Amino acid sequence: MRKHLSEKIKGRKSDHLDICLEENVQARRATTGFEEIYLVHRALPEIERSQINLSTTVFNHKFSAPLIVEAMTGGVDKAKKINSAIATAVEKLGLGMGVGSQRAAIEYPKLEHTFTVARKKAPNAFILANLGGAQLIKEYGVKEAKKAVKMLQADALAIHLNPLQEAVQPEGDTSYTGLLKKIEDLVRALDVPVIVKETGAGISAEDAEKLEESGVAGIDVAGLGGTSWAAVEYYRAKRNKNEGHNLGEAFWDWGIPTVASLIETAQRVRVPVIASGGLRSGIDMAKALALDASLTGVAYPILGPAVDGAEAVEKKLRLLIDELRNTMFLVGADSVQKLKKVPVIVTGKMADWLAIRGFDLQTYARRGL
Ligand SMILES: Cc1cc2nc3c(=O)[nH]c(=O)nc-3n(C[C@H](O)[C@H](O)[C@H](O)COP(=O)(O)O)c2cc1C
Repeated sequence: MRKHLSEKIKGRKSDHLDICLEENVQARRATTGFEEIYLVHRALPEIERSQINLSTTVFNHKFSAPLIVEAMTGGVDKAKKINSAIATAVEKLGLGMGVGSQRAAIEYPKLEHTFTVARKKAPNAFILANLGGAQLIKEYGVKEAKKAVKMLQADALAIHLNPLQEAVQPEGDTSYTGLLKKIEDLVRALDVPVIVKETGAGISAEDAEKLEESGVAGIDVAGLGGTSWAAVEYYRAKRNKNEGHNLGEAFWDWGIPTVASLIETAQRVRVPVIASGGLRSGIDMAKALALDASLTGVAYPILGPAVDGAEAVEKKLRLLIDELRNTMFLVGADSVQKLKKVPVIVTGKMADWLAIRGFDLQTYARRGL
């Protein structure tokens, strides 16, 4: 029975990786909203690009740049290679990374090596352990959370919320009551920060507020506009010829665009906010940081390079960081702290959404005037 479960989890993890690598699983009609955000160009930046300081301290950890590779994988051999490549690169660059849900290793300890390779290759980088909210509701508690953290000597535990993915899977867990209480229990019992993350559909101000009340140390918005888990499940159902109940197509573009989710969350809570979900350039990263994110995260853009190896991951991460540095030069910000003080203009649908929901956009626009 246990073996059967581990094979099932392994099969699903493998399907997810293959689908993400072979199909287009990005949002189709929806966007992150970053295209509606403008930073104000400075013709007189009055700084040296080479002197820009990208380092930042969040969760008591110093990052050489405000960037983490978001949780992706573990549990299968291919995942071990991917985690190893990402870990090697983030260690070299002084960044951070998450691993995928550790459920497979908790159920089946023989698979631990596919996750622990991350700590082995990255002894100093910020590493996030990962468990699913759906598992916490059903069966997991403090014991499993401690195990996940210990397995990686993790710097923090990320709990992922994926009601959209569960809802479009025929076999998904759609019992989602009582999770806040479970999160509160973990926050009290663990001696590392507990961070809650979405997986591509975003966090609302209402939920951010509840999460902060439950004591979480940070919120990763993982909004709409990048990887769509409805799309991944659409392809999985199609490949498994399980199309009777395929909700993935209709919900492909469901969620809160990353920009709206970031502003809603950052304006409502005091804990650090990680901006992720569809960030695809250092310009997106700069916009997110200017909108008060403490860190930025990318998943999908790193997956392909990670299959190729650590050097390819390092190259991609360096490119993103260079783009961020260049954006900071063009807005005259020589540190991450200064970037949070530059004017930001929110236009179009994002401005409509946030104004209708009662969020203040003038404060960003009038900075520096
Ligand atoms: C192949 C793949 C596997 C993922 N697995 C997990 C996971 O196990 N746990 C988790 O919290 N998020 C997982 N995610 C979600 C990412 O961490 C991230 O929130 C999401 O992909 C949005 O970021 P992106 O648009 O940059 O890909 C996964 C993403 C990808 C692409």
